[in-house]
Amino acid sequence: MKHRAIRTFRDDAGARFSRWVELGADEVGAGEVLIRSRFAAINYKDARAVSGAGNVIKRFPCIPGIEVSGVVESSADARFRPGDEVTVQGGQEFGIRHDGAFSERVRVPADWVHRIPEGFDAFSVVALGIGAYTSAVAVETLERHGVVPGDGEVIVTGATGGCSSFAIDMLAGLGHRVVAMTGKASEHAYLKSIGAARVVGREIQQQHTKPLDEQLWSGAIDAVGGAPLDFVLRTMRKGGVVAPFGNAAGETFATSIYPFILRSVVLAGVNANHPLDRRTGAWMRMTTDLRPRALETIVHRVPFARLVEHCQALIAGGVRGRGVVVFD
Ligand SMILES: NC(=O)c1ccc[n+]([C@@H]2O[C@H](COP(=O)([O-])OP(=O)(O)OC[C@H]3O[C@@H](n4cnc5c(N)ncnc54)[C@H](OP(=O)(O)O)[C@@H]3O)[C@@H](O)[C@H]2O)c1
Repeated sequence: MKHRAIRTFRDDAGARFSRWVELGADEVGAGEVLIRSRFAAINYKDARAVSGAGNVIKRFPCIPGIEVSGVVESSADARFRPGDEVTVQGGQEFGIRHDGAFSERVRVPADWVHRIPEGFDAFSVVALGIGAYTSAVAVETLERHGVVPGDGEVIVTGATGGCSSFAIDMLAGLGHRVVAMTGKASEHAYLKSIGAARVVGREIQQQHTKPLDEQLWSGAIDAVGGAPLDFVLRTMRKGGVVAPFGNAAGETFATSIYPFILRSVVLAGVNANHPLDRRTGAWMRMTTDLRPRALETIVHRVPFARLVEHCQALIAGGVRGRGVVVFD
């Protein structure tokens, strides 16, 4: 029986493009476990892969998508049986070098497959997934460096993005006063509804251009890199902590040494692309004190047939929150 998938190709000139394909169960990569997909997350890097932008896919052709949940259809490994609810997410292979999540059926090595952890279900394990886990790790990074509620305002950049929306929700839930920085003037009400105490536009960057400007933030979670990260650094309070995890505004940034040597600002990077079995305590905190209260506001369901259009809109900056593909 054939099923539908989105596959990314590279032509002779090196250009990447994706198209719908019909595949058999033995045409979606090697592995002991065949899964019927139910939900798949749409991360920024997945949208870039589907749109042919950037250098996400490392082997061609390849099905993008790095997080899926579903039901085991068949397994040659004794750890899994037909009917088991499972998830595959994280690592350096799935949806990058090995066919990934944007497929009605997924075949992977048994070692990559995990039962849905306690406290999660097939939807929430993907709806939260790497996006919310990244935010949880960023929040823990601020905590580890001593940022506590009541210290002062914490700014979150790329505020309407999937990860940043969760970061706002989590920080507000812990009692921080959160400032959301966004390029979307139409989404201020959304940002306040998920926990932002106030919202600033990206034009605030042009109002603070000195190498050491007004001291505004005790903490910062930065999803975008580039010029906004430089702005955040020059407006940190003495001893403030910045946790960057993304590059939507640029892979490089210019800054001066002054925030570091005159204000002891800490730049503490976040890499949260851990497979499920190597996640830190931040993962399980998402079922307790870091549980996003506005999950249903942040996450929106995208029918599989609408995936390509959704990815194009996300790359163009026209999407808020986190998209989750629904296969049923
Ligand atoms: N380090 C890690 O372990 C890790 C894990 C997951 C994701 N990431 C990275 O985190 C970033 C965010 O991922 P995501 O899935 O949340 O993406 P997303 O939903 O697309 O969010 C990115 C947000 O950044 C802002 N933005 C986009 N283009 C921009 C530009 N040119 N200048 C300034 N702001 C811009 C937009 O927010 P506004 O319109 O509200 O400003 C957008 O919603 C990505 O770079 C991703 O690769 C890293």
